[in-house]
Amino acid sequence: MPEFRLTQISDPHLARRLPMLTDNFHRVSEYIDATRPDLVINSGDLSFDGPIQRDDLDFAKTLHAALPVECRYLPGNHDIGDNPTAVGPPPAQSVTPQTVDAFISIFGEDCFRFEAAGWCFIGLNSLVMNTGLAREAEQSDWLASQLAGVNGRPLALFLHKPFYLNTPDDPELAASAIRYIPQPVRARLIEMLRSVDLRLVASGHVHQRRDYMHGHVRHVWAPSSGFIIPDRKQEVIGIKEVGLVEYRFQPDGFEVRHVRAPGQIDVDLDSLSGM
Ligand SMILES: [Fe+2]
Ligand SMILES: [Fe+2]
Repeated sequence: MPEFRLTQISDPHLARRLPMLTDNFHRVSEYIDATRPDLVINSGDLSFDGPIQRDDLDFAKTLHAALPVECRYLPGNHDIGDNPTAVGPPPAQSVTPQTVDAFISIFGEDCFRFEAAGWCFIGLNSLVMNTGLAREAEQSDWLASQLAGVNGRPLALFLHKPFYLNTPDDPELAASAIRYIPQPVRARLIEMLRSVDLRLVASGHVHQRRDYMHGHVRHVWAPSSGFIIPDRKQEVIGIKEVGLVEYRFQPDGFEVRHVRAPGQIDVDLDSLSGM
């Protein structure tokens, strides 16, 4: 395969009771139907409130299953609960073995590895990190074994939460700790990845589009396909808009395109309250 075309969507936050988000997902679906990438990866927050309302997960799966191309799924905090941090308050909804199992039963494995166009692609469940759950240790062991088999290929990593704001050494702040991979797991993960040719970290979660380099690694924050968060609730870091991200991988490099599906609307989170 000379080229591998991958489309990343993220954070659709689907629920039957939120038709504006469903409409935005349909616009994304139409765009995917028109462009027909080789694979779609959804980097999490598939559902609006999966840990409490299982129907949100089922509804999200139904809509994704109707996509005309293969789709792989990673969990978000709104699907399985959030991870604890050293500096912030405990999450309102913690990850549990039951929420992870519910996700896997509906969407399949919560992490993956595959190869295409000379690249290795790995997806991780970023919400079990720092939880102490058996699943966290299982995934860490699995990742170590996968990295041992990369064999010099460039690596693209997908996960719900971004690594950090700008650098690995960014201090963990109470107000923003839940936005990134929590410490000390972040440092351990970055250390594990030193043994491979990591080129791309693709995440979601922040609902802001961003694309920057740190060293040789390109960090792409996919926007939500569903809604934006108002400034009074979340500072501006990147671009607040809905949309998706397209990638073209070739053995000697990759390209990134930041796009919006025709008809996608910048739904504001405030307009969803009370629904
Ligand atoms: Fe989200
Ligand atoms: Fe999230």
